[in-house]
Amino acid sequence: MNDLTDKIVSLCKRRGFIYPGSEIYGGLANSWDYGPLGVELKNNIKQLWWKRFVQERDDVVGIDAALIMNPKVWEASGHLKEFTDPLVECKKCHSRFRADQAEKNKCPDCGNKELSEPKQFNLMFKTFIGPTEEKADVAYFRPETAQAMFVNFKNVLDTTRKKLPFGIAQIGKAFRNEITPGNFIFRTREFEQMEIEYFIRENEWEAQFEYWKNQMIAWIKELGIDVKKIHEAEIPEGERAHYSKRTIDFEYEFPFGRKELYGLAYRTDFDLKNHEKFSGQNLKYRDPNPPAGGEEFWPHVIEPTWGVDRSVLTVLLESYREEKERIVLKLPTKLAPYKAAIFPLLANKPELIKLAKKIHDDLRKEFMVAFDDRGNIGKRYYSQDEIGTPYCLTVDFESLENNTVTVRDRDTAKQERIEIDDLTNFLKKSLGGD
Ligand code: GAP
Repeated sequence: MNDLTDKIVSLCKRRGFIYPGSEIYGGLANSWDYGPLGVELKNNIKQLWWKRFVQERDDVVGIDAALIMNPKVWEASGHLKEFTDPLVECKKCHSRFRADQAEKNKCPDCGNKELSEPKQFNLMFKTFIGPTEEKADVAYFRPETAQAMFVNFKNVLDTTRKKLPFGIAQIGKAFRNEITPGNFIFRTREFEQMEIEYFIRENEWEAQFEYWKNQMIAWIKELGIDVKKIHEAEIPEGERAHYSKRTIDFEYEFPFGRKELYGLAYRTDFDLKNHEKFSGQNLKYRDPNPPAGGEEFWPHVIEPTWGVDRSVLTVLLESYREEKERIVLKLPTKLAPYKAAIFPLLANKPELIKLAKKIHDDLRKEFMVAFDDRGNIGKRYYSQDEIGTPYCLTVDFESLENNTVTVRDRDTAKQERIEIDDLTNFLKKSLGGD
């Protein structure tokens, strides 16, 4: 990898954000497990997304579908035939890799120039349903969450009475048998997506595409990502997914190169049309409004899609700072795993510990908060800075007299005294601020 990515990987392991998967068994290449802090960060990103794109909107509803679907879904969607990457084999060391990773037609492992012709390799993850491994029982882990939105289009329409334009959103796992996973959690075989299938009339696709492009940029800003490091790459015909008439990749300047962070695609009416063909069910939308009232058609679809794990990685890369005396994660406070840490100034003074524990118990009802009484205050600050905790609250002898604590700000290291009774309000106000 490279310097910064290595530092992030090491911090993630050391502090409990992300561990190598199945580590006690020597690991499983390119699989990663989120630890106690990582799951908080990841959940905060997912909750922020759900709030922004589902909770606060009239025109988007959510679903949470089974991730193993009827295999016919993947016939209809075209994935069984088209969801492939070109795979090349080195004739000398027999390593296999994606054709686009063979720089100057050289094997990336041994440098040999004798490579096989590219072969199309299907990325679908196969499994079997039931106790036999018969062909009839073959099923697939979904390679994208999107298809569940198309398959449930009619159900959602019938139960919510939504009118065009409207969207269906989902957050969930997707699986791909990637030929060359790597770069930490950037490309793995199991990952999470946050997707919206936004159903529209065909004639508005260009305006809606533009609208969703801006929504995606607004989201990128909300995560605190520097938009100067984001590039919109127009994907040319021939390189787009089989269903797409226009695709933009939002690429980010990762330390290991400029690569896709998120994507935006115009899927036309490809999916609904094919699901109608393969399922025999009418998946058209009936226009309720005059003058076209009663007309039936397949809505077209704009699809903004966000990788959860790539969001986590980008947020970590963006917030990592090495300062003179500390490493600090300048996470947007909304995303920080702990919102505050509570310390008794001295670990051997029962009255300080009692008050600090009480504050901890009160605050934890509203926020994820930490408690630390180990080492000296300086070490505790250092430890919380490294995981991005925005505020450290210290209970000292003055606290016992005037019911205040010192509140130290992660970014400025400035301290102020705040009334214990005001802490909840202070945190609510300060945490809503970015
Ligand atoms: N439904 C459209 C779709 O799945 P995609 O560009 O193949 O489009 C969407 O995937 C997003 O999922 C990507 O922009 C990326 O953030 C994330 N993603 C894709 N493959 C991934 C992988 N192997 N590991 C981690 N994230 C991945």
